[in-house]
Amino acid sequence: MTKRVAILISGGGSNMVSLVEDMTGDHPARPVLVLSNRADAGGLAKAKARGIPTAVVDHRPFGSDRPAFEAALTHVLDQVRPDIICLAGFMRVLTEGFVMRWQGTMLNIHPSLLPNYKGLHTHQRAIDAGDTEAGCSVHEVTAELDGGQVLGQARVPIDPEDRADDLAAKVLVQEHILYPLVLRRFAEENRTRIDLP
Ligand code: GRF
Repeated sequence: MTKRVAILISGGGSNMVSLVEDMTGDHPARPVLVLSNRADAGGLAKAKARGIPTAVVDHRPFGSDRPAFEAALTHVLDQVRPDIICLAGFMRVLTEGFVMRWQGTMLNIHPSLLPNYKGLHTHQRAIDAGDTEAGCSVHEVTAELDGGQVLGQARVPIDPEDRADDLAAKVLVQEHILYPLVLRRFAEENRTRIDLP
């Protein structure tokens, strides 16, 4: 049975594009929805251009009422009945209630070598710490922010002259390789970890 994948974005959607473009041929999954919490997310147009249905649930009218915002998200998701939900640059912290509702179906890509540098500004923090390598991680989503089981990681060297933007660009290239590999395995119900290189 082909797995149905919903992708949640907030921004440009380059990871969403790499996932969508990989879900062809003998891939065990297909994208059924790209959902954004921002109507101005650049990724929405990229999804439409690839024939993927899109939807927007703006978080701002809900203010600090996260459960109400998430109930609206779940209402839209229930229409497409996803087997898998991929967070791809989705910049809203999800409550335990939402995570429990979709337990075991959600993946997220995070631009650091977890468990290091959970949260924001990961590249600057790695540089400030004098690290020699950085990277990205795909993990299962749990109620602990960036805390779920890591299913894949890709590493890149930090060069002495690297600034945070340089590192972000290097890591993003690896994100676009790693996330599709992990999604394919996850859709095959194979949780064997992937490490690049
Ligand atoms: C990526 O670096 C991802 O790791 C982080 O947000 C960025 C989103 O980029 N969570 P895009 O919207 O997929 O281009």
